[in-house]
Amino acid sequence: MKKNLYIKTYGCQMNVYDSEKMATLLAPMGFELNESMNDADMVILNTCHIREKASEKLYSELGRIKELKIIRQTQNKDMMVVVAGCVAQAEGEEIFKRSSCVDMVVGPQSYQNLPELIAKAARDKKIVIDIDFPTISKFDSLPQAKVKGVSAFLSIQEGCNEFCKFCVVPYTRGEEYSRPTMEVYREALALASQGVMDITLLGQNVNAYNGLDESSQVSNLGKLIKMVAKIDGIKRIRYMTSHPRSMHDDLIDAHGTCEKLMPFLHLPVQSGSNQILKSMNRKHTIEEYLIHIEALRKARPDIAFSSDFIVGYPGETEEDFQKTMQIVEEVNYAQCYSFKYSPRPGTPAAIMSNQIPEDIKSERLLRLQNLIAAKQSAFNQSWIGREMEVLFEKNGKYKGQVVGKSPYMQAVHLSDGEKYLEKIVKVKITKSIANSLDSVVA
Ligand code: SAH
Ligand code: SF4
Ligand code: F3S
Repeated sequence: MKKNLYIKTYGCQMNVYDSEKMATLLAPMGFELNESMNDADMVILNTCHIREKASEKLYSELGRIKELKIIRQTQNKDMMVVVAGCVAQAEGEEIFKRSSCVDMVVGPQSYQNLPELIAKAARDKKIVIDIDFPTISKFDSLPQAKVKGVSAFLSIQEGCNEFCKFCVVPYTRGEEYSRPTMEVYREALALASQGVMDITLLGQNVNAYNGLDESSQVSNLGKLIKMVAKIDGIKRIRYMTSHPRSMHDDLIDAHGTCEKLMPFLHLPVQSGSNQILKSMNRKHTIEEYLIHIEALRKARPDIAFSSDFIVGYPGETEEDFQKTMQIVEEVNYAQCYSFKYSPRPGTPAAIMSNQIPEDIKSERLLRLQNLIAAKQSAFNQSWIGREMEVLFEKNGKYKGQVVGKSPYMQAVHLSDGEKYLEKIVKVKITKSIANSLDSVVA
């Protein structure tokens, strides 16, 4: 019997990837993905715990779901509510206490058990929880996801051993695990056979990838990228998220020699101050970070960078913050994400005594975001009149208009472009508007 499945995904690309896997895993049980929550037989919330705001989204959504579930029950229909992802891992049983409509809590390392857990919940009519970190990899038991479109994510590494003092990821995703190179290669082949051209290799600490190759030797991300690049159908390769500490020569070489590796790298630095980096346990200095940037620019002169920044980390002085502003000036980022420091339960920074008042955090964030916006706009403007290759992925807002992705992840519009859908086309940039570019075929 066909059942409606609704999945809502929060947080990072890893969650997007996991949600696709969950949907594929549940399809043989009769679950069909549906856009609307109202008539869902099962709702999965794939959650994020990274900042307080991200976490709280779960509970406001559960409030809404509870009402829907009650309405369905009056119609004699059930709705199974599953909380998955990083909040599930971090809060576990607490979730049942805070919200009575939840039937199941399942952590990111246990998705392969979902069919069994669902059967158990339905049979016993009891709440079910699975937040173990199993010894066998979940990747072995998850099916190949069916993807739509020409871009896809591929998880190659999960978990993090870095323990930055502000971050929950090592606790929610567990220890670093890298998939063997052949497993990644086979999944990339399968994606290519579904028409995928643009692939993003994912990992919480992706450039620390150390999966085993065919001869059981430890490989690295640089080598893996070159391997994936051999697949004809794959035209563009990206990877995220990297730690500056794990940049290595093979990877820099891949940037210099592998045409398919896009000239855009998200390399989060978090702060421009060595003092703060040290207190965050980032294990590198600003000088070392800049050496990587320089080496990457030398290998691939057209490369552009993005970063994440945290402002108002415990103990951050105005002087530290100025150093963050300076690094944005110096690297000339094409784009950046920036956040106010959010104390997370169980992380060392949350109990540091020198917390920064909220108003100072807000004020610093505003200054930083203004600078970042100016840099992004300058980068976009610099493309006006120049040519670039764009992969057009979907229809735009206006009739005949299509939208694509530039090598630098900018959204690029093209009018009367339907015949270019799912193709890489050389265009000339004519205009830069807010966060996107307009183009004509070159
Ligand atoms: N693995 C990635 C990032 C994972 S989290 C890395 O090492 O960069 C994504 C971003 O969220 C981080 O880069 C950081 O800027 C931000 N972040 C993580 N914990 C945070 C916290 N407690 N408060 C505010 N921002 C945080
Ligand atoms: Fe979190 Fe640091 Fe690991 Fe990134 S490297 S996931 S910020 S602990
Ligand atoms: Fe959020 Fe977990 Fe990703 S905390 S950012 S969903 S790894």
